[in-house]
Amino acid sequence: MDIINFSQKLKWIPPCAMRALERQLKRIPAVRRLINREYDVMLAELDGDLKPYAAEFPAHIRLPAEGVPRDDILAQMETMQQREAALWRDGFVSGAVYHGDSAHIEFLNRAYALNSQSNPLHADIFPSTTKFEAEIVAMTARMLGAAQVGGDDGICGTVSSGGTESILLAMKTYRDWARETKGIRRPEMIVPRTAHAAFEKAARYFGIKRVQIPVDEHFRADVRAAKKAITRNTIVMVGSAPSFPHGTIDPITELSELARQRGIGFHTDACLGGFVLPFANRLGYPVPPFDFRLPGVTSMSADTHKYGYAAKGTSVVMYRGAALRRYQYYTTGEWSGGLYFSPTFAGSRPGALSAACWAALVSIGEAGYLDAARRILETAAVIKAGIVEIPELRILGNPLWVIAFASDALNIYQVMEQMTRRGWRLNGLHKPSAVHIAITLRHTQPGVAERFLSDLRDSVAYVKENPQDEGTMAPVYGLAATLPMRGLVDDLLKRYIDILYRV
Ligand SMILES: Cc1ncc(COP(=O)(O)O)c(C=O)c1O
Repeated sequence: MDIINFSQKLKWIPPCAMRALERQLKRIPAVRRLINREYDVMLAELDGDLKPYAAEFPAHIRLPAEGVPRDDILAQMETMQQREAALWRDGFVSGAVYHGDSAHIEFLNRAYALNSQSNPLHADIFPSTTKFEAEIVAMTARMLGAAQVGGDDGICGTVSSGGTESILLAMKTYRDWARETKGIRRPEMIVPRTAHAAFEKAARYFGIKRVQIPVDEHFRADVRAAKKAITRNTIVMVGSAPSFPHGTIDPITELSELARQRGIGFHTDACLGGFVLPFANRLGYPVPPFDFRLPGVTSMSADTHKYGYAAKGTSVVMYRGAALRRYQYYTTGEWSGGLYFSPTFAGSRPGALSAACWAALVSIGEAGYLDAARRILETAAVIKAGIVEIPELRILGNPLWVIAFASDALNIYQVMEQMTRRGWRLNGLHKPSAVHIAITLRHTQPGVAERFLSDLRDSVAYVKENPQDEGTMAPVYGLAATLPMRGLVDDLLKRYIDILYRV
């Protein structure tokens, strides 16, 4: 890793000078060749892991001359599905599959199958999907503190394809709103360091400057820093309920009030917590205000495809007032294809996913979500208590059910690697180095919490005794944390995506 060692020796160079140096170095063909060779070596190791079916099933690199029999196709899919489900079904995975009971999956699949031809772009042909989507928004808004739903001043929204799309849509909405109503041409958004990457993605896509603010020792956004960060160009401020990395809830009362006083938007990202926090609150857990009950909260995102227990591919983005939502829409009367409009980024959309989402919400109901939240929070309490008893580990912040832990004594990524070898799939975090597990209904099955803690204790003991056994992921995470040439990490990640699309 010559080029990487070289880069690490340059840590003393300030970041902007480093970016310029990196650009210059990459223009030299010999350096480019060297970097490419090193990337190839690092990624070659991952190739096998990412393509486990290469030797087992035929690869289709062009359309088969004659169609493959349906039964053969389904048999292949069943083999793959069974192998992959073994990982998440028994509760070895952080987040990812949030419900997963077979009766629930079969029910959603039936709802999907009944609606598989539906496309809400054609509201005249599929009014059932329009009904489902309007009701998904209404049910979610009511759950999240909307006193009034619909109308000019009530809470309204749209269904999107996931948390990222909901966030992108909200940020684009604020950009267009601020341009039209305030003449802001150089928009800025204030985002806590722990907010989801989707906000940075929105900043890049829509030409919004992202102003990052720090978090305190409990991993909650720093309100004083937020106040100082407001400028004439600020269009929106963001808070998470809770954040993906540490599961902590930002001080949304204070932040949203600040935004309200200054006439800027405030977005609560409840993608992860929208379908848990209202019920945690009812169960008596300490949940600070975070939703539309706060007058300064002007938009929210809540993911039905996470703890709403819908199939993957739906989320809800909501706004205070119909006027704000209209900045999200795309409409044109100029196209030769006719009068055209779409509420979200996509044109045609899978109405079947909205139908299955509606079916999930209506079939589970308040009682079902309350019971699910109770089981998840009780399991999380067992896991938190177990981690606290491992002297080498400490929990970050005061999480309810997304539990991040770090170590001052050991390399936490080596602990994660050991957990992987014991069958677990946890999330590696960054800055500070940590690992998290997002508790889902899969973990509430009998014995799962105990198995997690027993494996965690064994992993910590192993790393203590074998610090030289780095494994494969620990060095990659370590590298990403320490490499001053940030572009090298981005390049590496782009090449990783390339591999995903290689046949
Ligand atoms: C707090 C938060 N916001 C946004 C997202 C993005 O959601 P998605 O992966 O559905 O795009 C996530 C995903 O985990 C999240 O935890």
